[in-house]
Amino acid sequence: MKLKQIILATSLVFAGSAFAADVEVLHYWTSGGEAKSAAALKQIMKDEGYDWKDFAVAGGGGENAMTALKARVISGNSPTAAQIKGPSIQEWGQEGVLANIDEAAKAGQWDSVLPKVVSDVMRYKGHYVAVPVNVHRVNWIWANPQVLKKAGVDKMPTTWDEFFIAADKIKKSGAIAVAHGGQPWQDATVFESVALGVGGADFYNKAFVKLDQSALTSPTMVKVFDTLGKVKGYIDKDAAGRDWNLATAMVINGKAGMQFMGDWAKGEFAAAGKVPGKDYLCAAAPGTAKAYTFNIDSFAMFKQKDAEAQKGQVALANAIMSPKFQSIFNLNKGSIPVRSGVSRDKFDDCAIKSMDDLAAASKTGGLVPSFAHGMAVQSSTQGALVDVIAKFMNSDMSSKDAVTALAKAAKTR
Ligand code: BGC
Repeated sequence: MKLKQIILATSLVFAGSAFAADVEVLHYWTSGGEAKSAAALKQIMKDEGYDWKDFAVAGGGGENAMTALKARVISGNSPTAAQIKGPSIQEWGQEGVLANIDEAAKAGQWDSVLPKVVSDVMRYKGHYVAVPVNVHRVNWIWANPQVLKKAGVDKMPTTWDEFFIAADKIKKSGAIAVAHGGQPWQDATVFESVALGVGGADFYNKAFVKLDQSALTSPTMVKVFDTLGKVKGYIDKDAAGRDWNLATAMVINGKAGMQFMGDWAKGEFAAAGKVPGKDYLCAAAPGTAKAYTFNIDSFAMFKQKDAEAQKGQVALANAIMSPKFQSIFNLNKGSIPVRSGVSRDKFDDCAIKSMDDLAAASKTGGLVPSFAHGMAVQSSTQGALVDVIAKFMNSDMSSKDAVTALAKAAKTR
């Protein structure tokens, strides 16, 4: 073989393997705190010799990312891994496009380091097809202590009555009481905390996990919408379309007093150098102190023909489950580690509260899946429920009409 041919042949081989050693990862972590967290994973993969191809699709809650993913899978060009969670993992499994990563799970003893409720969700027909990243709690309220102080609010509200008294005082002091972004998933995020606070965990489970018509049409659900309608009165008029992290920024810079948001909001406070207990406060949403709405991020692996790409998937799964990554990532992200064996030492008071409340709620039946974040019902049902909530937030729809529409939406499959 002539040298030129050899060079050509070798460069082709290298070109092939360089491409094969890429891991292309679809995610929607694009805000300040989220991007910092994702960077930790990119770094670990780079250190292991993989080229990270970032497939980031902006849009909180991940709706845009899911649309992009569908387009790619349909065109036969699936990414290596994608940020998918909850029942959607089963939906993708049924399409026959997910890869088996039992090898990584066995080597890493996932069965023993993960809670069974989590590992069950990561499997399709008994085989691991996804790897969990963290546990986010959704039923939080975040606040700026300076704004509260100025308004004469001396503690975080623990009941809805206390909440509305605090909100009135903040409004009177000239600040915005509730920072919110008018996007359907954010509306649903607030709604589910209101539902949990007003109705309790049993009611929540009946209505949003079992989709029980009697709970969905109950007077309690009317009360939930009444309460949400009242919350609406404390949101500023420019909220339409606002991204969640910009709403968090309003709390950070003292423009607003409080925000209902999952603890990815803590990632924003942390990225801005803020300290919990001093610069910001965290508390369970009113009436939900004994409950815990969980939201577990995970990456599903998509079938790859190339053996190198399959190796990349195993490496990615191993990296995600490593205690080192679980610690760095979750410190930045605001969530807590999903696996056992990660030291609590570096975590702040809000994270420790999340860990303790999660353990307590799992014993008392207060642990519920977030339906706003794709943990409770299949995506078509979730979409229909969220549409009703968004319509309620953006119109003068009555609570009774909202209840009727919600109960109908719950039948969507
Ligand atoms: C995800 C979080 C993400 C948030 C905002 C949630 O559904 O679980 O990881 O930070 O949406 O995009």
